[in-house]
Amino acid sequence: MAKNESKSLGAAKDRDRALLRLEDIGKYYGTVHALRGVSFSVSEGEVVGLIGDNGAGKSTLIKIVSGVTPKSSGSIFWKGEEVEISSVKLARRLGIETVYQDRAVVGSMTVAENIFMGRELVRPFLGVVPRLDRKRMREEAGRLVVDLKLNIPTADHLVRFCSGGEMQGVAISRAMRFRASLVILDEPTTALAVSGAQQVLDFIRRLKRENIACIFVTHNLHDVYEVADRFVVMLQGKVVSDVKRDDTTVEGLVGLQLPRSATGA
Ligand SMILES: Nc1ncnc2c1ncn2[C@@H]1O[C@H](COP(=O)(O)OP(=O)(O)OP(=O)(O)O)[C@@H](O)[C@H]1O
Ligand SMILES: [Mg+2]
Repeated sequence: MAKNESKSLGAAKDRDRALLRLEDIGKYYGTVHALRGVSFSVSEGEVVGLIGDNGAGKSTLIKIVSGVTPKSSGSIFWKGEEVEISSVKLARRLGIETVYQDRAVVGSMTVAENIFMGRELVRPFLGVVPRLDRKRMREEAGRLVVDLKLNIPTADHLVRFCSGGEMQGVAISRAMRFRASLVILDEPTTALAVSGAQQVLDFIRRLKRENIACIFVTHNLHDVYEVADRFVVMLQGKVVSDVKRDDTTVEGLVGLQLPRSATGA
């Protein structure tokens, strides 16, 4: 076999192994051209840091992958199959969970209710009628909270009394309970104190140990450098760099985020 041929076969295999593959994704909001042909892949259990300047299109991209907003063009492949992620519900069914800083959880609900929201456990009542199995949900939620070392007294605790880091933990518990394959975190550490931010980084390490992949969107390059295997850098709606952790440094990442004009390149 010719060398080039075997190389392209290898690349095709890599693509097939990808958990998520984005191909040439474009997005218009009216006349705003937010994404201009974005392509990259995420492998099983891989932590990808998605970074770039304000307005680069990071949140838009993850909203497309998590079913919040439709793409204008391009293709999404999930476990090798092309998919249309038309709703958050469908994304969850595929195994994609998204944790937003501002709306990861519902404050007026308990920890247990948040974890099982939309996927409540039921048990048969009088042999047939399904009833909510609150006891089991409380017990399971309690175990998850202990497992993630969250400092939450009980699963009946209202989420609005949790700290920012604990709220993220509740959302992560949900992803673990329902065996997500990919967890997306958009700016998870921005509004947190140093200890809360460290806790979120620990959650990401934990997800990695469970072979759950993660896309971590942040402006904090020091945080992302601690946990990511690879960095995808966006600028003005495009991917300008896709680099492995071993091939860069935090300082290198800062340089990659700058517009080409600023670096003189
Ligand atoms: N709902 C919307 N309607 C119109 N334009 C939008 C909308 N959401 C985002 N945009 C625009 O799309 C572009 C990309 O925005 P996006 O929020 O994806 O950037 P980002 O990389 O997440 O930025 P940040 O780092 O500031 O969070 C920006 O120019 C933004 O103004
Ligand atoms: Mg954003």
